[in-house]
Amino acid sequence: MFISFEGIEGSGKSTQIDLLESHLKKLGHKVAKLREPGTTLMGEKIRDIFLQDTVEKVDPITEALLLYASRKHLDQNFLREKISQDYIVIADRYSDATFAYQCFGKGLSKDFIDFIHNSSDLLTPDLTFYMDITAEMSRERISNRAMDRMESESIEFFDKVRKGYLEIVSENPERVISLDATKSIDELKDEITLKTIEKLNASLG
Ligand code: TMP
Repeated sequence: MFISFEGIEGSGKSTQIDLLESHLKKLGHKVAKLREPGTTLMGEKIRDIFLQDTVEKVDPITEALLLYASRKHLDQNFLREKISQDYIVIADRYSDATFAYQCFGKGLSKDFIDFIHNSSDLLTPDLTFYMDITAEMSRERISNRAMDRMESESIEFFDKVRKGYLEIVSENPERVISLDATKSIDELKDEITLKTIEKLNASLG
């Protein structure tokens, strides 16, 4: 099974991913985590290039091509192998992020991304948790960190990204579960565990 977590900066994805990982391991499942961009040797190099602050202009097409280079490489060198070995794979972001950040946030054509995505022959997550917070709350939560190139974007940008995610939620009701990420860590953990177990049971027939 392939599960992804999505949300803007500071939405609490990493905490919930770690909690879900340890819960599933306690139940005896094999769990593999990934992050995007990144995870593979080549993917982590692409991540560094992607997030590095630079005085050069970075077009959303440049971003999308870097992201899809990492994503295809991840599919070929990590994701399919883990799925075929019966791991539950938990992804810290996947392709919904490209629609939210590059298309909704930066105005890149959805047709362009659809074309690269469909030509890349990639897997689709069985289940996606979208952790919803406002752009203002995101800024508040990350303001004490050293910010990378993407985190340094404006509140207006993150507001557009959030709207993109909300559109993805409404267009994919079967796959994407939207969570109010202002709830407590424990409440969120319980909701995520319940939905994951339901999905696992359904996939076992
Ligand atoms: P993070 O994984 O530490 O949140 O950093 C990844 C950054 O990359 C985050 O700002 C979101 C951004 N990103 C995109 O803009 N598009 C994508 O498709 C992905 C996977 C990430």
